[in-house]
Amino acid sequence: MTVSQQKKPIRKAVFPVAGLGTRFLPATKAIPKEMLPVIDRPLIQYAVDEAREAGIEQMIFVTGRGKSALIDHFDMAFELETTLKGRDKDLSVLEPTRLQPGNLVTVRQQVPMGLGHAIWCARAIVGDEPFAIFLPDELMIGEPGCMKQMVEAYNEVGGNLISVLEVPHEEVSSYGVIAPGKSHGALTEVLGLVEKPKAEDAPSNLIISGRYILQPDVMRVLEGQEKGAGGEIQLTDAMARMIGNQPFHAVTFAGRRFDCGSKAGFVEATLTLALERDDMADEVRAIMRRLLD
Ligand code: UTP
Repeated sequence: MTVSQQKKPIRKAVFPVAGLGTRFLPATKAIPKEMLPVIDRPLIQYAVDEAREAGIEQMIFVTGRGKSALIDHFDMAFELETTLKGRDKDLSVLEPTRLQPGNLVTVRQQVPMGLGHAIWCARAIVGDEPFAIFLPDELMIGEPGCMKQMVEAYNEVGGNLISVLEVPHEEVSSYGVIAPGKSHGALTEVLGLVEKPKAEDAPSNLIISGRYILQPDVMRVLEGQEKGAGGEIQLTDAMARMIGNQPFHAVTFAGRRFDCGSKAGFVEATLTLALERDDMADEVRAIMRRLLD
């Protein structure tokens, strides 16, 4: 890989949204998990807004059956818009849901065989350029957003980057964990990656959170990859095989992460963001006080 390839701009992002969302059943029987709203924006909207802020132009959704609401959300809603206009209502609230034709591309993952497999399904659209990955059920709140922080780091060091967060050591076994090398500022060299290690075997307490910038070579690694943990094709395994051949860094995200793939994490995100909104903080604080009393 030449230096110019390592630093090609990040124009495309893959959003794997083909998972079954079993932890949220029955809510996710007919509605994709990524359409569940934190207050008034679905999870996918937060992720797409974060991508746009980072300068990404093309959003690639890896979808499955029953996921059409995700595509409709970013389409023009002719009847709704015409009715709202007729009633002199403000349409600006719909502005972030508009993606220009060509800026949203979808591809199907026919069988949910894991995150690595979902990413591989987007290979023809990603082509031969570095790209970002967003797991929309991990809600990242920061200023600037997580991907913008990562793109800034990428412009410095190029290669591959993953976003990491520190967690208490006893919690690492639910996550992918990095083996850290040298650090400077928010950047840490990645020497290895382990998916869901036992706490006593974990090489650090820096866990991989759901944002990545990867070189297109990862698609070739995924191509021949065997199933890993949980019988799924794991992205972590493919990334681990790239370490040593290409620069690989972790960026410690300056911001907050909410695990909206879990019910408690979802409630935490909703309460936290509600308490920060001018239009509802007082009311929600009063409700919470009453409930706690
Ligand atoms: P998760 O494991 O958190 O999502 O995958 P899930 O499988 O939908 O949820 P649970 O565990 O059954 O409740 C992380 C992300 O990867 C996507 C999911 O849609 C989610 O955004 N994914 C996962 C795929 O696109 N395909 C897969 O085969 C697996």
